[in-house]
Amino acid sequence: MQTNFSSIVAVVGMGKIGLPLAVQYAQHGRQVIGCDIDATVVEKINTGQSPIQEEPELATGVAPLVQKGLLSATVDTTEAVKSAGVVVVIVPVVIDDQHRVNFQGIDAATKAIGFGLQPGTLVIYETTLPVGTTARRFGQILEHISNLQAGHDFYLAYSPERVSSGHIFRDLRVYPKIVGGVNEQSLDAAAAFYRSVLDSAIITMASTDEAEFVKLIETTYRDVNIALANEYACFADAQGLDVAAAIAAANTQPYSHIHSPGVGVGGHCIPVYPYFLLKGLEELTQNTGERMLLLPRTARSVNDAMAEYTVSRIEAVTGSLAQRSVLMLGVAYRGNVRETAFSSARLLHSALLAHGANVYVDDPLFSAAELCALGYTPLPEEHEHEIRAVLLQANHSTYQSFDFSRFPHCQVVMDGRCALDRAYIEALGMHYMTIGDGNRCKQRKQQVVPLAVSGEAAIGG
Ligand SMILES: NC(=O)c1ccc[n+]([C@@H]2O[C@H](COP(=O)([O-])OP(=O)(O)OC[C@H]3O[C@@H](n4cnc5c(N)ncnc54)[C@H](O)[C@@H]3O)[C@@H](O)[C@H]2O)c1
Repeated sequence: MQTNFSSIVAVVGMGKIGLPLAVQYAQHGRQVIGCDIDATVVEKINTGQSPIQEEPELATGVAPLVQKGLLSATVDTTEAVKSAGVVVVIVPVVIDDQHRVNFQGIDAATKAIGFGLQPGTLVIYETTLPVGTTARRFGQILEHISNLQAGHDFYLAYSPERVSSGHIFRDLRVYPKIVGGVNEQSLDAAAAFYRSVLDSAIITMASTDEAEFVKLIETTYRDVNIALANEYACFADAQGLDVAAAIAAANTQPYSHIHSPGVGVGGHCIPVYPYFLLKGLEELTQNTGERMLLLPRTARSVNDAMAEYTVSRIEAVTGSLAQRSVLMLGVAYRGNVRETAFSSARLLHSALLAHGANVYVDDPLFSAAELCALGYTPLPEEHEHEIRAVLLQANHSTYQSFDFSRFPHCQVVMDGRCALDRAYIEALGMHYMTIGDGNRCKQRKQQVVPLAVSGEAAIGG
């Protein structure tokens, strides 16, 4: 194949991951064109500003690159691709309420790329994908539109993006880059590109399918692991044991890596990618498919069921929550992020409402209007005295100094992330509990002991 030697890189999708990637490549001397359908994002980048707040390095990193002409942005992906030797695609794939995978955005991006694709260009997908998507779905779209053949007329590869929002530049240095190609030439071209723009190790895989599988393995592992921790937590509660102490002790053995239990799993990765893995079963016969991936399926149900379990633990202290007011702290999917994608706050909110509670929320990262738009009710000051239970859902650092004395009638604080100061809360006369602390059953045991004694006495009599 005749390689397209243009040193220009087109990065398609200038979001939380795409912009840092564009900056990383430009800092390694490549001329980068960022492509996005959002004109506001494009305009901001072209004036040297970062539309992304999560990455501290971007605040000062974008302007000098724009001034030097190494970074620019456009809404015209097709034109950018025409001039590029490498195209990196990082447009999200999402799931809907029924857990069906929705490729709409990335399909549109792929079509725009297809119209501009030149012979010898390297196209790399980095978005997390169901196994088979790069080679079959996107390969076919690109070939059909460009009239070029993948692996023959242009290089096609997949490399999962493994970084986390908030410390992307560190992760790019530390995590090995996993790369797979539709053929050996594509793999070599992609590995050579990453060697020129990254400082990390590179791990090559046998195919794009195998490279896609890697990311689904590492994310689904975390969901299944958390589900196991949650099951241990429920067991600990039933036995009157402290799961956190038991897990910490078990994890001193090097083969035990149990995560922490909690009130739910949120975010656009961990609760979502198991469904991408399951999507890969669709091409198999129904019978074969049904026998596979039972653990990821079960883990999803276990983790989602933690919302109902949490409410039952609160009610074990308060009695029925019907007509009672509950305050949920944090609607974000995790502490200190201003994002609500698949937050377990949704499930907890629904479970509390289903039990008849009046549910209020607090989240300092969102305005009252934003909380209302998300379907939540911010807590008005005049209703603070009604609060009977507080539930910590997202561990924002501001909650470390949160004033719980505002809720004089609060009976219980459910610390869903094991993050609060037990002594402070108990000193206010509130019951403090975490998932898996065994408190509920310790109390039950204390009640059961005298009954057993009186029972023995009755038998003896
Ligand atoms: N966010 C993370 O922490 C994270 C971590 C690892 C991997 N990833 C992967 O990165 C992908 C992107 O995540 P993100 O957080 O950057 O998303 P994001 O929502 O922050 O950004 C996506 C960008 O793509 C743009 N876009 C949508 N359709 C487009 C199209 N047809 N053409 C061009 N641009 C288009 C959007 O306007 C947006 O600016 C995820 O789907 C995931 O696979 C994300």
